[in-house]
Amino acid sequence: MNNIHASLFFVSLIVLILGLGSCTTDPIVIEIPAEAEMEDSLSIINIMETDLCETGVVSFEREVLPILVSSCAHAGCHDEASAQGLKILTEFETIMYHVSPNEPTFSSLYLAVSSDPVYMPPSPRVPLNEGQIQRIEEWIIQGAENTMCNTPCSSTDRSFNNDIFPLIQNHCIGCHQPNNALGGISLIDYESIANLAMSGDLLAAISHEVGYSPMPKLLNKLTDCQIGQIQNWIVEGAQNN
Ligand code: HEC
Repeated sequence: MNNIHASLFFVSLIVLILGLGSCTTDPIVIEIPAEAEMEDSLSIINIMETDLCETGVVSFEREVLPILVSSCAHAGCHDEASAQGLKILTEFETIMYHVSPNEPTFSSLYLAVSSDPVYMPPSPRVPLNEGQIQRIEEWIIQGAENTMCNTPCSSTDRSFNNDIFPLIQNHCIGCHQPNNALGGISLIDYESIANLAMSGDLLAAISHEVGYSPMPKLLNKLTDCQIGQIQNWIVEGAQNN
């Protein structure tokens, strides 16, 4: 009897093991929550930008395109779904239909954003600021080329007013302002940016963490140095400095 019991036990053990084996079609992956990982490893990081533009050269990809995409390429305006062929402002080729190289005052793109009263983006959207209009003008004067170089950056430069706010203005505010708060998020001023930063969502979205909508939407990921500036600013308490 003992032997029969023992072998029954043995057989059922094998059946159990085989049965379990055939049920587990997906490998078991133990995931460490990304957030926990991030919190632990948040410290001041030191990164210098590489592939820099030659001195004075405006980067189409890193300066002009982010301004146009975040301020103009919206649903109902100049994104791919809404705009008719020539008014798509998300890529070099179609942007160039509105630009006359070397001649800002013959470029409808430049005239639209610099006119008084401002024509684009239409009120009540926040107009481009002086610095942004100037960079677009300089880019056109330089021949309006598809330059893809990076702008100077050191991740240890992390002042809100000198580094962080301009970064947000150039890449985010067009899509995240009170009159166009996509995803319910406005990034119009220090307070709103600091709130998002301290919640962890700002760094998670620009670092393309799993579970977050990758930001800036429709644009290249920020460079490691730019993300580093924001991380360093957050590590120090996201101050208004
Ligand atoms: C072209 C428009 C556009 C630009 C540019 C943009 N966003 Fe967004 N953002 C959105 C939309 C739309 C959503 C809502 C989610 C979605 O549809 O992906 C969103 C959502 C978010 C969210 C919430 C993400 C989540 O999954 O919880 C954060 C945070 C965010 N944006 C931050 C930023 C930051 C920071 C920048 C600039 C570096 C930026 N966004 C640039 C359109 C934009």
